[in-house]
Amino acid sequence: MVCATITTTSTFAANPDQGENLVKRWCAGCHLVAADQKGARADAPTFASIAARPDFDPAKLAFFLLDPHPKMPNMQLSRDEASDIAAYIATLK
Ligand code: HEC
Repeated sequence: MVCATITTTSTFAANPDQGENLVKRWCAGCHLVAADQKGARADAPTFASIAARPDFDPAKLAFFLLDPHPKMPNMQLSRDEASDIAAYIATLK
């Protein structure tokens, strides 16, 4: 198992590769989650645009994901899964 080096200021041990698998399964139906994806809902922000926000912070995003936005089904992500997803989104900057 390869451990990815995370160069952000995050203090949690997260795995962006695992996060990529999760977002392709859970989020790609609505969000544009990767540059090679075709088609997403127009009202859902792309993950690249979320990563590019000046106030983007993986720890805050992981916290946000534990309490999902109203338009999104409650996916019951575990804390680890939310951290992995946030770490993956951080790589899109
Ligand atoms: C059923 C469609 C749907 C799914 C599935 C979905 N989202 Fe969303 N998401 C939306 C929509 C629509 C918005 C924009 C409107 C809103 O904020 O409610 C949004 C907004 C967001 C935002 C931005 C919130 C902000 O601060 O503006 C983030 C981050 C996000 N989604 C992450 C995710 C992640 C991660 C997943 C997968 C685990 C996911 N979403 C799955 C529909 C979805």
